[in-house]
Amino acid sequence: MKERVAEIRADFPILSREVNGSPLVYLDNAATSQTPQAVIDVIADYYSRYNANIHRGVHALSQEATDAYEKARKTIQAHFSAAHAHEVILTSGTTHSINIVASGYSTLLKAGDELLISALEHHSNIVPWQMLCQKTGAQLKVIPMLPDGTLDMEAFAHLLSERTQLVFVNQVSNALGTVNPIPTIIAQAHAVGAKVLVDGAQAAPHIATDVQVLDIDYYVTSAHKLCGPTGVGMLYGKTELLRALPPYQGGGEMIATVTFEKTIYADLPHKFEAGTPNIAGGIAFGAALDYMNGIGLEAIAAYEQELLQYATEQLKGIEGLRIFGEAPEKTAVISFLVGAIHPYDMGSILDKMGIAVRTGHHCAQPIMDFFQIPGTIRASFSFYNTFEEVDRLVAGVKKAQMMLE
Ligand code: ALA
Repeated sequence: MKERVAEIRADFPILSREVNGSPLVYLDNAATSQTPQAVIDVIADYYSRYNANIHRGVHALSQEATDAYEKARKTIQAHFSAAHAHEVILTSGTTHSINIVASGYSTLLKAGDELLISALEHHSNIVPWQMLCQKTGAQLKVIPMLPDGTLDMEAFAHLLSERTQLVFVNQVSNALGTVNPIPTIIAQAHAVGAKVLVDGAQAAPHIATDVQVLDIDYYVTSAHKLCGPTGVGMLYGKTELLRALPPYQGGGEMIATVTFEKTIYADLPHKFEAGTPNIAGGIAFGAALDYMNGIGLEAIAAYEQELLQYATEQLKGIEGLRIFGEAPEKTAVISFLVGAIHPYDMGSILDKMGIAVRTGHHCAQPIMDFFQIPGTIRASFSFYNTFEEVDRLVAGVKKAQMMLE
């Protein structure tokens, strides 16, 4: 893989640009990944040649667009090993996908039911469930975290009971990179009859996931973390669960019949796909998965682990630098602080050197509260990053430290 990185980088036009007079070092991949030319071409091709609404027209353009969109759904199905294409609901992204499930459960829960959430969640996997609890009287309980950024699995076992209806957990923490023990969580949750929603937004670019082997009930992710465009993502659900879930929005395309007295909803996946979707985005989501599979998720993960190890060692050599989240299993995410320097100040100076990192609470304020910090500087790596870029980050942090301390 290391030998192929120069060639791979040439696929991404943005990686050759300069920022503030220096070559871009893009280390904000957990926020969004960059887009290869092959995927950009697919979007341009749609708008140049067959822009039309789908599932609606008899004309050639509409048919071509529908075929391409449904082909992408099948690519997504195959990538995550779903049993059926109709189990893949195309959404605007992970947040939308979680809200579909949370909204649907408002009629399926009763007061006294319990929902378990991990302490490592992104706000998008916290707030919708709080809203659901307000509506239903169900209670949200938190699986605590430990100082190394892993989940307290003993506490999880104690929290589970026959009252537990749902468990929500990310496969990988966006703020710390912790890889959570999804097989164990699912097995234990299923043993008490609870369903599990796995937030795969941060895991999908690094970890191949077979929803059937893992027996996942609901899986959500976003295309833009996977070299695809923003504004498109997926909700996977087992057929029987999605059939039992009421639709999130009403509108065109999600119906079988409508009269003023009664509407019969369409079958899956259309029941959850009201309105005109992000058609080019959906088609490009499929192309992005093809691109990533062309490189190979295993090769990607192995190379990113080398980058993670190298970057961790190099950053740890900086006096006063603290890393938050040192789970034994991590993706290539490093959250850190340097002495008393505010993350925003460090991030701004790195930006002046062309180095893009994310700073702040990373939409995971409970994790920051746990560590009693306002936020961190987060460097998140992708398969197109290089060891030289790690060196630029380390040199940049040292220089910023000299300026700010
Ligand atoms: N959830 C994304 C991140 O962690 C936006 O940066």
